[in-house]
Amino acid sequence: MKATAAYISENKERFLNELLDLLRIPSVSADPAYSNDVNRTADHIAEHLKFIGLDKVEVCQTAGYPVVYGEKILSDKLPTVLVYGHYDVQPADPIDLWHAPPFEPVVKKTEIHPEGAIFARGACDDKGQMFMHVKAVEALLKSNELPCNVKLMIEGEEEVGSENLAIFVTQNKERLKADIILVSDTGMIANDCPSITTGLRGLSYLEVEVTGPNRDLHSGLYGGCVANPINILAQMISSLHDENNHITIPGFYDKVEELSKEERAEMAKAPFSHDAYCKALDLTDVHGETGYSTPERGSIRPTLDVNGIWGGYTGEGAKTVIPSKAYAKISMRLVPNQVSDEITELFTKHFNSIAPKGVRVKVTPHHGGEAVVTPIDSIAYKAASKAYEQTFGKPAIPVRSGGSIPIVAMFEKELGLKTLLMGFGLDSDAIHSPNEHYGLFNYYRGIETIPYFYKYYTELMANQ
Ligand code: BES
Ligand code: MN
Ligand code: MN
Repeated sequence: MKATAAYISENKERFLNELLDLLRIPSVSADPAYSNDVNRTADHIAEHLKFIGLDKVEVCQTAGYPVVYGEKILSDKLPTVLVYGHYDVQPADPIDLWHAPPFEPVVKKTEIHPEGAIFARGACDDKGQMFMHVKAVEALLKSNELPCNVKLMIEGEEEVGSENLAIFVTQNKERLKADIILVSDTGMIANDCPSITTGLRGLSYLEVEVTGPNRDLHSGLYGGCVANPINILAQMISSLHDENNHITIPGFYDKVEELSKEERAEMAKAPFSHDAYCKALDLTDVHGETGYSTPERGSIRPTLDVNGIWGGYTGEGAKTVIPSKAYAKISMRLVPNQVSDEITELFTKHFNSIAPKGVRVKVTPHHGGEAVVTPIDSIAYKAASKAYEQTFGKPAIPVRSGGSIPIVAMFEKELGLKTLLMGFGLDSDAIHSPNEHYGLFNYYRGIETIPYFYKYYTELMANQ
């Protein structure tokens, strides 16, 4: 991998500038106002895949945003790595809280990133991390050191649920044939503490609507006599957790996989500082389910959170009103064995059952997805482990993440393939938040580490 390493080091500046160009296109998948830009991003990436020398590059149209595909097949005797990433990003708002415009990337030093970090929407999630793969493959190709076959599949709807990618995958099973899926869309513990993600939570996302009277009412004339949907919604939501912060939906925990003492002890070995955690978030204390540590609460335990709540009058000054309707968006993070659709159904049944007389309740499901755990005794994990050892000088720790990438469970179901999650972001990189950033250290170290994964994976596959 000498030539590859040299190529990377000689082209660092260009690699950075190319990522900055990609970050300048506002590929917000959730907001139709950006649809031209999202499509433009797909074209831009396809052109780039051609530029680095991939074959069969295609902007594959779907019912939504396209999937960009490219490959380099050396021999059918060699293993094939299928890389997945996404080029769409989250909306940038609240815009006012950004120190610089979200689609005009700037490099700035921070305490955690003394070498500098790229500030822009998508810098870490996932353009920066996805682009590391493009650059790693470029370096391998240009140095004639690509050891195996590679396929790249980059989608534009991850942040809105990957529904069309799911269809694309079922319709392109032959094209997507591979031995392993490789994804960089998660994080690691710290720049001096590499980790490999071994799990993702599932998701059930829904919206609730509580309706009281058929119109907004004068709160003096009617106050005290009719159900106020906001009061009721607040009561209903607060009843969804008990005093131990357990979720009260009947059956919610039925399928939850409990970890053994040994597994929990193993987890507890990963470094975690309560004080640093609170300090970073300006909190006086953490909060969560009794009987579990913060890292456990955030990975191996399911959750229920309100993501947004609204209704009534929220404008300037005061308006005395009993609103007709109240709304909330609610997400539940799920763990292995829980089934997203089943949980959505349990929620719906329960939420309807706790509604008092005098209101009507409507529950509308949004997207969902299943949790995954990935093995740590696989060839892919071992190869990744050796790759991190090579570039970080120390072994990576396995860590289950609390985030969700619903398509990963789909890959396993539809393609029968396991995924290796090589994430290089940090929790402090502010993904989905204002001032999202990605460390230059992380970007370059990722580009350096990925080629070793290809090398060791190919070697271990040949020797199995
Ligand atoms: N890349 C994230 C997921 C992630 C981030 C996993 C960090 C682990 C560590 C992904 O883009 C994302 O934001 N997923 C959504 C779900 C999706 C259906 C909108 C999420 O986790 O909320
Ligand atoms: Mn992502
Ligand atoms: Mn995301």
